[in-house]
Amino acid sequence: MNVIVIGAQWGDEGKGKVVDIYSAKAEYIVRYQGGNNAGHTLVVNGKKTILHLIPSGILHPGKVCIIANGVVFDPTVFFEEVESLHQSKAFGTALPNEVIRVSERAHVILPYHRTLDRLREEYAAKGAGKIGTTVRGIGPAYEDKAARRGIQVIDLLRPELLRTKLERAIEEKNILLKHHFKAPLIELNPLYEEGLKLGEKLKPFVSNVRALLQEALRGQRPILFEGAQGTLLDVDHGTYPYVTSSNTVAGGAMTGSGLGLNIKAKVIGISKAYTTRVGTGPFPTEIEKTEKETAERIRSVGAEFGATTGRPRRTGWLDLVALKYAVEVNGLDGIALMKADVLNGFDFIKVCTAYRLGGTTLYDLPSSIEDLERVEPAYEVIPGWLSYDQSQTKHREDLPSELRDYMRMIEDYLGVPIVLMSTGPGRDETLIFSDPFGQ
Ligand code: IMP
Repeated sequence: MNVIVIGAQWGDEGKGKVVDIYSAKAEYIVRYQGGNNAGHTLVVNGKKTILHLIPSGILHPGKVCIIANGVVFDPTVFFEEVESLHQSKAFGTALPNEVIRVSERAHVILPYHRTLDRLREEYAAKGAGKIGTTVRGIGPAYEDKAARRGIQVIDLLRPELLRTKLERAIEEKNILLKHHFKAPLIELNPLYEEGLKLGEKLKPFVSNVRALLQEALRGQRPILFEGAQGTLLDVDHGTYPYVTSSNTVAGGAMTGSGLGLNIKAKVIGISKAYTTRVGTGPFPTEIEKTEKETAERIRSVGAEFGATTGRPRRTGWLDLVALKYAVEVNGLDGIALMKADVLNGFDFIKVCTAYRLGGTTLYDLPSSIEDLERVEPAYEVIPGWLSYDQSQTKHREDLPSELRDYMRMIEDYLGVPIVLMSTGPGRDETLIFSDPFGQ
């Protein structure tokens, strides 16, 4: 069996930790969309590692970590991560290029993508329409891909083609920079020289990842697909336009890796016991204004600050309407429930079970972003639970009864089981109820 791990909310659900745990069972771990806008925080033996691009499975020796075609790939960030993993001896006796493979077809984030991302956000900040991006160049790189003027990893290895492709790619951008943003123009030569250098360094890592994964499938080697961001940031199914520029839903694992729909996989959605969001955009259960103290308590206990940008995350109660939507658009087989311990000691917990819009009650996300901005969450208020000794909690029955009731309520509403529950940041602070690889 193979497993696809998906963020079921707005990202930052704790996918890094779940991927790290599931990696023990996988032989191949694949990042298939997004780029270094992701930030996966892992704590192993008390040591914290934040990865933005390289799959979180890298901290397990002997696995092959893959960056597939659907990723937008920043070579500079990649080499920084390789270096830092090397320093912390994460590769053991293996060479980095023996355990990390990069798709020839992945699109490259170039310096001008970062520049455009920043300029657009600065420009938008003067009026409406700021997305609150991570300013890593993700959107502009995907734009170029869709506009058919992107530079792919394989182009960096072909000096004779690279120059012409870059020339074509920057032509329109320079018009935009000159006339719209009044910013310095992109110079071809330094860009070309740097591209060649990066290509040379990248060569040992580059491979036909699709073929490699087909081979793995044929040999029944378990593959773990590591989603980035979250369902509600999906460019098709999220809260558009306040989304990222890729398909974060489970279907993205197929298009982003080149495998077909006949692959046998379980899809696990990661959700916190509450909700957070970074950046702009609708968030029905947000409590920043209405329940300021609770919002601050969740943020400080849950350390809710962006792993990539350090921005404070907006916080709110669990939204079961949005989570049910995630169950449907991803075809989730199970939920991994994260950070319930952050809610320890609350007198009561609120859970959103419907939206009210005008005189109607909704049980599904409205398609219009303007409607989603206006919905009022309908809450059920349930009793909270006292702090408990997490180190002595090994089974579901060991959890406080109010927390078990909360979990049952979530499962009943969603119609899928909670397969894993995290009780703290460390690898060992995890309760595993069933193993998706074993099914
Ligand atoms: P971009 O992906 O940098 O273009 O940003 C688009 C939106 O996605 C912004 O609201 C970001 O805050 C959000 N976003 C991007 N990556 C992540 C992530 O890994 N976690 C949470 N939000 C993210």
